[in-house]
Amino acid sequence: MLEIKNLHANIDGKEILKGVNLTIPTGEIHAIMGPNGSGKSTLSNVITGHPAYEVTQGSITYNGKDLLEMEPYERAHAGILMSFQYPVEIPGVTMVNFLRTALNARRAAQGQQPLSASEFLKLIREKQKIVEMASEFSSRHVNVGFSGGEKKRNEIFQMLVLQPTLAVLDETDSGLDVDALRIVAQGINTMRGKDFSAIIITHYQRLLELAKPNYVHVLLGGKIVKSGGPDLALELDKKGYDWIKEEAES
Ligand SMILES: Nc1ncnc2c1ncn2[C@@H]1O[C@H](COP(=O)(O)OP(=O)(O)O)[C@@H](O)[C@H]1O
Ligand SMILES: [Mg+2]
Repeated sequence: MLEIKNLHANIDGKEILKGVNLTIPTGEIHAIMGPNGSGKSTLSNVITGHPAYEVTQGSITYNGKDLLEMEPYERAHAGILMSFQYPVEIPGVTMVNFLRTALNARRAAQGQQPLSASEFLKLIREKQKIVEMASEFSSRHVNVGFSGGEKKRNEIFQMLVLQPTLAVLDETDSGLDVDALRIVAQGINTMRGKDFSAIIITHYQRLLELAKPNYVHVLLGGKIVKSGGPDLALELDKKGYDWIKEEAES
């Protein structure tokens, strides 16, 4: 379970998160929606431990551990994975090496043996099928020359290989065509289960229709101002955020 209490965070001395409260029980998928600039990416960066953000108040615990006391790699070893809104290119590092290193580092941290080359290859092939990626992708350098849609699908592929227990997906659906959107949803649905939780940050109801969340939260001005079931996403899609702003101000 992820528990965020009264979280305040700054970037460059400017307060962006102003008291976020959010609890995600293990096994549940929660969506976070909200206008541009409301703090969604800030929240995901703070959960995964981006060093540019300063937490000034509040707490984040994950399965009882104080996340704010942990380095980003320790959070990854604890099963947390973030899919970036803008995936980075890593020239010189192939997908295979990147994923094998990441996976075996976590296995080592959890006292497991590294996967053998053939076990790893088998795993890669199996997961590539789910995201409908050609096998040549694994020998290419991370995200280099990938199209926007391929980068996003690649984020989902990484999730499937690394099998996090908590995934934070920051606008993984933005800019995708219908087929890529379906593939992203398929990847999320493959992960669904009693040991997996996810935060899906999105502007669109469409992904949530295909990968149904347990709850939808609205982040506005650095706070969660409204929560509801999947129908809330539909309502936001139709009505926008003005009515929520009015509700929040009254
Ligand atoms: N490095 C930075 N320096 C100053 N302000 C920043 C920086 N990064 C983000 N912000 C500001 O923080 C606010 C929240 O940004 P962000 O978390 O990216 O919002 P969202 O993901 O909801 O669109 C925005 O007003 C943005 O301009
Ligand atoms: Mg963002």
